[in-house]
Amino acid sequence: MKLLIVGGGGREHAIIKSLKKNPEVTEIFAAPGNGGIAADATCVAIGATEIEKIEEFAVGNGIDYAVVAPDDPLVLGCVDALEAKGIPCFGPRANAAIIEGSKVFSKNLMKKYGIPTAAYEVFEDMNAALEYLKTAPIPTVIKADGLALGKGVIIAMTREEAFTAVRDMMEGGIFGKSGSRVVIEEFLEGPEVSVLAFTDGKVVKPMVSSMDHKRIGDNDTGLNTGGMGTVAPNPYYTDAVAQRCMEEIFLPTIAAMNAEGRTFRGCLYFGLMVTKDGPKVIEYNCRFGDPETQVVLPLLESDLLTVMQATTNGTLAETEVKFAQKHACCVILASNGYPTAYKKGFPITMTEEAAAHTYVAGGKLQDGVLVTSGGRVTGTTAIADSLGDAVKEAYRLSDGVRFEGAYRRSDIGRRALQALK
Ligand code: AMP
Ligand code: GLY
Repeated sequence: MKLLIVGGGGREHAIIKSLKKNPEVTEIFAAPGNGGIAADATCVAIGATEIEKIEEFAVGNGIDYAVVAPDDPLVLGCVDALEAKGIPCFGPRANAAIIEGSKVFSKNLMKKYGIPTAAYEVFEDMNAALEYLKTAPIPTVIKADGLALGKGVIIAMTREEAFTAVRDMMEGGIFGKSGSRVVIEEFLEGPEVSVLAFTDGKVVKPMVSSMDHKRIGDNDTGLNTGGMGTVAPNPYYTDAVAQRCMEEIFLPTIAAMNAEGRTFRGCLYFGLMVTKDGPKVIEYNCRFGDPETQVVLPLLESDLLTVMQATTNGTLAETEVKFAQKHACCVILASNGYPTAYKKGFPITMTEEAAAHTYVAGGKLQDGVLVTSGGRVTGTTAIADSLGDAVKEAYRLSDGVRFEGAYRRSDIGRRALQALK
């Protein structure tokens, strides 16, 4: 079988390494992939949003199955385009990917179907938003409507910050067009849990839960990033919480999307907060999370391709989705200066042992040498019987990955370990 993976980050590298385990897979292409992915797949120079070129490549190269991993091609209809050419795909069609593509859509969906989430108001007029903020409870959360690369969220701790955030988004255009409509929502408190779930639109099979570490600094300080590390499972996701999530969130969401004529197939990512009033949805993503995937897929014991195809064929109910009863930890190495300005082009070296456990997010080949090309550069994952051992081992392995200015948090997994005590 010939596969095509659309995307080019650490998440895609983890997906590819997992898919390779299936002996029926003869060839994997990645569009665009990256310099690290090139060790595991054939990279083709097509951007993840160049949908016509992706279509052409898939048809021309006899692709049997495609996996569209990132949010933007999904929202732009990459799956629809490939399906129209007869190529089966993993991932939602555009009309379902809107669950991530528009915060206003997802908030209205939750309100209409009684799915627990933060209370909110939507504004298209800046003055109305500013007027509302005069009396809104503080802290408050301001979100740009459209995709903003996971950065379109501002937590305002004071009223002044809230005014500034609204002006920056609606007048200053800091998130471009996606900020012309904003959601202002209730500030929720509690531990965050990520749950990725396979669904064929009929049944939903959650994967092992995980915990991201979004801030750049230790003890969750500093700017938000794409994610500096993950652990799985997440200790706050107890059996009782899992049961409530299934009944109050997961099944109602699948049913709501069906009722709207927007059947969701693929991986639905539930960003949850376990509040004192129970689990609530912070956000939906229409895809695998990054770097959640780098801890979740290494724990998957079932064959990934088989499960993915079951979401496409509507046979997920009969397909086993089994995870190892172990713990995983992923430590990200980032370029010095990330998430603001940083330099690129530094050679990356890895011991053989580290390379076997490492997914490359921001690396490209330059004259045959792997060099840094992004903010988040690598993610190194270890699996162990205990969380403590997984964390220790992930740090030890990540010592084997080197490049100039490499930065990592030193406390990935610490909060989870404390929660276990
Ligand atoms: P998002 O891009 O929607 O995942 O938001 C980024 C981060 O902002 C989340 O991971 C949360 O830590 C935080 N956040 C988003 N919405 C809320 C909220 N209503 N209350 C508190 N924190 C929030
Ligand atoms: N790690 C969060 C995300 O993928 O959006």
